[in-house]
Amino acid sequence: MNLAAYIRYLWLMQRTRPRRYRALFETINQTACRRIVEIGVYNGRHAVQMIQTASVHHSLPDIYYFGFDLFEDLSEDLLRKEGSKKPPPYSVVQHKLEKTGANIRLFKGDTKITLPRFISGIGEVDFIFIDGGHSVETIRSDWNHVKELMGKDTVAIFDDYYVNENPEIAGLGCQAIVDHLDQDLFDVNLLEPTDVFTKEWGELKIKMVMVKRNSSV
Ligand SMILES: C[S@@+](CC[C@H](N)C(=O)[O-])C[C@H]1O[C@@H](n2cnc3c(N)ncnc32)[C@H](O)[C@@H]1O
Repeated sequence: MNLAAYIRYLWLMQRTRPRRYRALFETINQTACRRIVEIGVYNGRHAVQMIQTASVHHSLPDIYYFGFDLFEDLSEDLLRKEGSKKPPPYSVVQHKLEKTGANIRLFKGDTKITLPRFISGIGEVDFIFIDGGHSVETIRSDWNHVKELMGKDTVAIFDDYYVNENPEIAGLGCQAIVDHLDQDLFDVNLLEPTDVFTKEWGELKIKMVMVKRNSSV
């Protein structure tokens, strides 16, 4: 075990906000993940922290990170439609992630195009974080592609499970997909903690959701 990386992991588990993001680091540490996919890289901050957590159990040259994002191709129109955040340019995030010393592959573009094009070259992975576009249409498409990367021990975590309904978030979030997953094929766990944000229209309650292949299949 890399002691310095483990101490940083303990610090992250104490300090990470919003608190639901701890699930990423806890899962990566507990299951000793080495091959990580993130849909929606944004500024790469959590990517760096996931890689650093993976380095508790693996040397950095043995860690692989595959990230998908529109980066500078995110239009104002898509920004609104996906309920998204505007990421920095691809080259800035690529540089930031390469400094970790892990193997980095970033795929720029809409995941409806990049996932079907590149996914077959990735192979099975240990951990998948689905946190790209927030529209149901995009999350469903992302899931339908990334589930192909799941082996029997792969953990997938969806962000943006909206606990309460409101017209302001209609058509957004992973709940429409997660609530209809075939329970014969997948184990689904709604994770704690739930983050609660006060909006002008009421309370936004967000959970992460963990999905694994059903081990009895
Ligand atoms: C909420 S942010 C991701 C946050 C990041 N996972 C983290 O933990 O810091 C969502 C990201 O998804 C990207 N995105 C939104 N729609 C997308 C799409 N259709 N294809 C690819 N990326 C998309 C945005 O550019 C944005 O960077």
